[in-house]
Amino acid sequence: MKLYLPDAAATSALAARLRAVLPDDVAGWTLLLKGELGAGKSTFARALIHAMGHDGAVPSPTYTLVEPYQLPSATVYHIDLYRVSDDEELRFLGWTDLEDGFRLVEWPERVPGLAETADLLLHLDYADHGRHANLRALSSRAAGLLSHLGEQTDTQLQD
Ligand SMILES: Nc1ncnc2c1ncn2[C@@H]1O[C@H](COP(=O)(O)OP(=O)(O)OP(=O)(O)O)[C@@H](O)[C@H]1O
Ligand SMILES: [Mg+2]
Repeated sequence: MKLYLPDAAATSALAARLRAVLPDDVAGWTLLLKGELGAGKSTFARALIHAMGHDGAVPSPTYTLVEPYQLPSATVYHIDLYRVSDDEELRFLGWTDLEDGFRLVEWPERVPGLAETADLLLHLDYADHGRHANLRALSSRAAGLLSHLGEQTDTQLQD
């Protein structure tokens, strides 16, 4: 699914719409967030974490690598792999301990092979003053969700 996000509020709105079509229990799911520096990955992750019921701040995990949130539908792990360069470092980070949660991963391309086990991929690209978003399902359990999201988004674009 491709769409144009004219500003940061549109990026956040897309996250809220995705939340609305995700299953109640997203434990074990992985969403990859790709895009250049400043493309809006953290903006999207922050809005999704808020839409999932978190009230407080959502600091960037650039230095901590992982920020956990205990939320009703899952423990959400907001992960930034910008400073990670291979799977050895990922093991050191305790990657397998995060498998029970919903993983939101910025810079997934730092660790080849992550896409094979992920459910969703959002790619954000600079376009004019806003961003192009390309949201894809990588797993069969995620495929149906995007068709719902597409229908909903088309309706909203016609408003
Ligand atoms: N659709 C959009 N149009 C214009 N600006 C946007 C859009 N979405 C987000 N932004 C803005 O882009 C800036 C950078 O966003 P953000 O920190 O989310 O990027 P990031 O991809 O996480 O960067 P990094 O690679 O450094 O982690 C913020 O100022 C944010 O408000
Ligand atoms: Mg970021």
